[in-house]
Amino acid sequence: MSRRRSSAMAITMSSSSSSSMWCWWWAVLVVALGLLLVVPTNGLANCPNGCECDDETLMVNCGVGTLDVLPIALNPSIQRLVIKNNKLKTIDSSMTFYSQLTFLDLSYNDMVSLPEDSFKYHAKLQQLHLNHNKIGQVSNRTFRGLSNLSVLNLRGNLLAELEYGCFTPMLKLEELNLGQNRISHIDAHALDKLSQLRVLYLDDNTLTTMPAELTFKALPNLAELYLGTNSFMSLPAGSFKELLGLTHLDMRGAGLHNISSAAFANLSALRYLDLSDNRLAAVPTAALATLGRLEQLYLGQNDFQSIASGAFEGLRELRQLHISGAQHLQRIDAGAFVGNSNLELLNLSSNKQLSVLQPSALASFPHLHTVLLKENQLHTLADALLPWADLQTLELADNPFVCDCQLMWLRNLLISRNGSQQHAPVICGYPANLRGLPLTQLAEPLLGCAHGAANKQAIIGIVVVVCAALTTGLALVLYTCRRRLRELIKGHSALGRKEREYQKTFSDEEYMTRAPAGAAAYPSFNSQHYLGSRAGIPVTEL
Ligand SMILES: *[C@@H]1O[C@H](CO)[C@@H](O)[C@H](O)[C@H]1NC(C)=O
Ligand SMILES: *[C@@H]1O[C@H](CO)[C@@H](O)[C@H](O)[C@H]1NC(C)=O
Ligand SMILES: *[C@@H]1O[C@H](CO)[C@@H](O)[C@H](O)[C@H]1NC(C)=O
Ligand SMILES: *[C@@H]1O[C@H](CO)[C@@H](O)[C@H](O)[C@H]1NC(C)=O
Ligand SMILES: *[C@@H]1O[C@H](CO)[C@@H](O)[C@H](O)[C@H]1NC(C)=O
Ligand SMILES: *[C@@H]1O[C@H](CO)[C@@H](O)[C@H](O)[C@H]1NC(C)=O
Repeated sequence: MSRRRSSAMAITMSSSSSSSMWCWWWAVLVVALGLLLVVPTNGLANCPNGCECDDETLMVNCGVGTLDVLPIALNPSIQRLVIKNNKLKTIDSSMTFYSQLTFLDLSYNDMVSLPEDSFKYHAKLQQLHLNHNKIGQVSNRTFRGLSNLSVLNLRGNLLAELEYGCFTPMLKLEELNLGQNRISHIDAHALDKLSQLRVLYLDDNTLTTMPAELTFKALPNLAELYLGTNSFMSLPAGSFKELLGLTHLDMRGAGLHNISSAAFANLSALRYLDLSDNRLAAVPTAALATLGRLEQLYLGQNDFQSIASGAFEGLRELRQLHISGAQHLQRIDAGAFVGNSNLELLNLSSNKQLSVLQPSALASFPHLHTVLLKENQLHTLADALLPWADLQTLELADNPFVCDCQLMWLRNLLISRNGSQQHAPVICGYPANLRGLPLTQLAEPLLGCAHGAANKQAIIGIVVVVCAALTTGLALVLYTCRRRLRELIKGHSALGRKEREYQKTFSDEEYMTRAPAGAAAYPSFNSQHYLGSRAGIPVTEL
């Protein structure tokens, strides 16, 4: 603004007087030079094409563009600088002008190296994003000066090695992202002094062995560790034994074939563990048993064929168990989840060969609200397996269900839950005439319960056997007591009369004495009926 006003003034002045033109020209030149010198310190900076420069909030934000060097004439007071998706090749000495930065994002550029001491004057910087460049190396001089940095993002670069003390200057670092590089070697002292570090990403690298014991010893406050997409093969005993505060461990796709039973020793604070997409031939029951506070476990996409009884014993706090996409999983044994009484969500979906859920495989879980069994190979489900009606979410789609009498309960359950379920319907796979039909739309007779149902036949069988037994018993009794019976029949004509008279008097007396009490106890219709039938007996039967 002030620049525009002063040049306009210069023009008016020059046109007003033609005689002393040279004088005015000199004046204009001096003013212009002065402006050039004054501009940077006044904050009236030059803003490169494609960037937004805000001198009030002290932010510079450059959109997608072709900047290949760091702009030199930005306001030196800026606190936030974002040059993303450009063509920066390196960090040159211009960086030294911007010592007030607290946030610097140079991600998605073409930087191949970071000169030593690039950030020497940046004690205020709190976040540095250098992800998705082509940086091949960092040394113990690269980050000198970053004494207040809390977030360093180097994801998506070409780092192959972490050298001795390369992050040492960053005593306040809380989050370090080294994912998606080519790291195959980590010096035992690479992470020294990072005592505040809480989150470390080392996923998607080419590590084959766990970092040395000392590496993790330097990280007493580490809470989250990402080691997935590496090639570890095995996890030896005590791999994480220094990480007493670790709550979140991600080893998805880490190439694990086996896990030592003491691999997770001392991880007593762990609440989240992802071991999916590995090559585990069995559930690592013994290793898991040490994780008494684990709440979420991911074990899908592994090679085990069954889940044995007690596979997760010891995981008393387990709330979510996800076993999806396990291509070889066929069977879940009885008692598989015994001891996991806090289970809330069970995700057993997309296990293409899973066909057997043994009775009582899913014992009773008081907090279970979600069961996902879609895309498996289930042919039927037992009503007794779970208290199905108590679930909030139940997914059963894409199974080759045999729609017969055994699924009648499920049909009725699904119908009764109509509206509360937004999921894909349960479609019949068999028999052939019902294939493709939704289970809920089948009329009861189609499920074959009405005629010759197996359990009805069983009931008829039982009744027949019981009748036969009773008849035989009665015959035996009659036979053994035949003498007494004969005597009874002989004396019958003499005794008969007295007995009947007794019966008659009792009936009359009963009516006379009990009627008032009975009238109070029974509704009037009933007492009438009572009276009538009792009074009728002597008349009709005598
Ligand atoms: C360091 O960062 C914190 C915020 O994380 C801030 O409050 C503090 O002022 C910074 N110190 C320096 C010297 O910039
Ligand atoms: C940096 O590392 C080199 C070896 O790579 C070592 O000689 C030097 O002492 C280290 N400097 C610091 C400050 O740790
Ligand atoms: C880890 O646990 C072992 C026993 O399993 C124990 O001897 C060791 O002191 C623990 N480590 C730490 C750092 O507490
Ligand atoms: C882990 O697997 C490797 C290769 O399959 C085998 O040589 C090793 O004995 C196994 N270790 C354990 C503890 O099972
Ligand atoms: C269950 O697992 C499948 C397959 O991994 C996944 O797509 C889905 O999001 C999971 N559902 C829940 C609720 O976690
Ligand atoms: C289920 O609900 C829909 C509307 O929400 C209704 O049109 C349909 O008739 C219901 N089906 C049964 C079997 O109750």
